[in-house]
Amino acid sequence: MSSLDVKPLTRIGILLSGRGSNFVAIAESIRAGQLRGVEIAVVISNVAEAPGLEAAARIGLPTAVFVSKGRQRAEHDAQMIACLREYNVELVCLAGYMRLLSPEFVGAFRNRILNIHPSLLPAFPGLDAQEQAFNYGAKAAGCTVHFVDEELDHGAIVVQRAIPVLETDDARTLAARILAEEHVAYSEAIAQVASEEYEIRGRRYVRRMLPG
Ligand code: GRF
Repeated sequence: MSSLDVKPLTRIGILLSGRGSNFVAIAESIRAGQLRGVEIAVVISNVAEAPGLEAAARIGLPTAVFVSKGRQRAEHDAQMIACLREYNVELVCLAGYMRLLSPEFVGAFRNRILNIHPSLLPAFPGLDAQEQAFNYGAKAAGCTVHFVDEELDHGAIVVQRAIPVLETDDARTLAARILAEEHVAYSEAIAQVASEEYEIRGRRYVRRMLPG
């Protein structure tokens, strides 16, 4: 690319199943000019009633629903892959997408899928991570944005944000404070990955230092 060329926007596809607050935070970062070089191409849900889908429609973004209930995973995922390709999506962002992806989906977007998880991985993978951390008596909690591979909550870590667990916390207040960190972490991770200034060495995500 010559110095006169402008890097085209990275087109992201959002997958969600519910509330969609992480999606809204990403959309808000883009709108506020804090997430340069990125645009949301499509928002896909596997749940027709997902509030996140309504939020996407209100903002005027393209949406698609592929109901997953009772459907075979690979067949359902093939529809999502086709839709993401149709919208020329380069980076898939799971934002509260509550269904395991098939190996075919992971392979179709190898190292191009991000997920956000409300714990400091590898601690507390799986469901209700905030409650797991609270009940375990962890003194630090937080969130992780990571690449998705074939294992649950497992791929290379891009960004983590940690907070202390306060004496006054309960599982609900802890989850709320973690969520506030999630909303910052996801945009930060997307900005980094979209810049393409990184490499993955084994499990390690390493940022390339820009000259100057
Ligand atoms: C978040 O806590 C996220 O870490 C987890 O699912 C939740 C989704 O929340 N994967 P929202 O739908 O983005 O509000």
